[in-house]
Amino acid sequence: MLFRNLVIFFLSYVKFNNCFNIGGFKIEWPTKLEDLNLYCKFKECCNDNWIKYNRVRLVKNLTDRVYGQPLLNEAVDALSAHFNPYYPPTKALTLSFHGMTGTGKNFVSKFIAESIYKAGSKSKYVHHFIGRMHFSERSKVHEYKSDLYSWLKGNMSDCPQQLFIFDEVDKIVPEVLNAIKPVIDYRDNVDGIDYSQSVFIFLSNTGADLINEHYYDLHMSEGKSREQLSLTDFEWLIKKGIFNEEGWLNKENSYFINIAKKVYYFSFIGSFYQFISTLGGFHHSDTIKNNLIDHYIPFLPLEERHIRSCIREEFRLKSVTNPRKEHIEQIMQYIEWGPDSSKTFSKTGCKRIGQKVALLVAKYYKQYFTGRDEL
Ligand SMILES: *[C@@H]1O[C@H](CO)[C@@H](O)[C@H](O)[C@H]1NC(C)=O
Ligand SMILES: *[C@@H]1O[C@H](CO)[C@@H](O)[C@H](O)[C@H]1NC(C)=O
Repeated sequence: MLFRNLVIFFLSYVKFNNCFNIGGFKIEWPTKLEDLNLYCKFKECCNDNWIKYNRVRLVKNLTDRVYGQPLLNEAVDALSAHFNPYYPPTKALTLSFHGMTGTGKNFVSKFIAESIYKAGSKSKYVHHFIGRMHFSERSKVHEYKSDLYSWLKGNMSDCPQQLFIFDEVDKIVPEVLNAIKPVIDYRDNVDGIDYSQSVFIFLSNTGADLINEHYYDLHMSEGKSREQLSLTDFEWLIKKGIFNEEGWLNKENSYFINIAKKVYYFSFIGSFYQFISTLGGFHHSDTIKNNLIDHYIPFLPLEERHIRSCIREEFRLKSVTNPRKEHIEQIMQYIEWGPDSSKTFSKTGCKRIGQKVALLVAKYYKQYFTGRDEL
């Protein structure tokens, strides 16, 4: 009797504490009894304790630390929908962030990682690829493609809730990204692997000039404030930008158009070129829209008031709650403004402001260091 109870106890214990059976078929039982309760307490596991989306935290972090990006609400809503426990997703969530440097794209992906994983961006379920570092050599395209595909598959079979961040997408050899296609399509179960629960975030400067120009137009000529803008003001534009700029997923597309152009030049069938280019553009944007990217999020260029907020925040992070006015102005001197002579927005956003602030704090706010010096 006692033995039977012990067995039942043991089995229910295993059932509630093991973290190896979630991904599907690959079941590895812990070999030591004490591992059962301790392992997942201290080491990251694929369970609710370690992976739990927290919208409130995300919104708070974005409001506190990211300036002038009202259109990010769309990304927050998309994530909340993706992690809605009552309506499980039918495909992996794919977000594409576009905008110039320093507008907060990396920052936001970090906050997203923190809002999903207890271990934040250090989680073993968060993967950060940088175009220029990981996938930029054309000669290695086949190797990249098969590596990437097996990593995606391998990780997702370990745990279906993974976050993949692809930074500098414009530097990635376009064919490499095709390895992702089968994984983010509307098929939630391939080879027993659940692909529908992951999140993919693509970061690039692609379309940044168009976003800036369009923002400038809406703002200056139509007098719209940034809070009045909606995603529809920009989404079509980003797609257009993706098609017109090199890289990203448009290689086949531009190849197609180049051939059509040749046809046009050499056989003077102008309407044929027109037909092909609309067909090509439409076809590809449709593919991107339906199979690959769920939401394009533009990052708007930052104005003076946003840069001032960044500077204050950087001071606050270094415990200076009341920076001197002249020091804020001193940092403002470093900022380059554009477009042209209009000085409407910063050309580098909030980039490198942290370092400038650190220097001033070390130089002029010695009282914040004396405590430590005396130790
Ligand atoms: C994000 O928000 C949480 C609380 O909501 C806070 O503990 C954490 O420090 C914030 N992260 C950053 C980088 O500000
Ligand atoms: C998971 O992805 C990483 C790259 O982030 C890779 O190095 C690793 O081998 C992958 N794991 C599996 C089991 O495929």
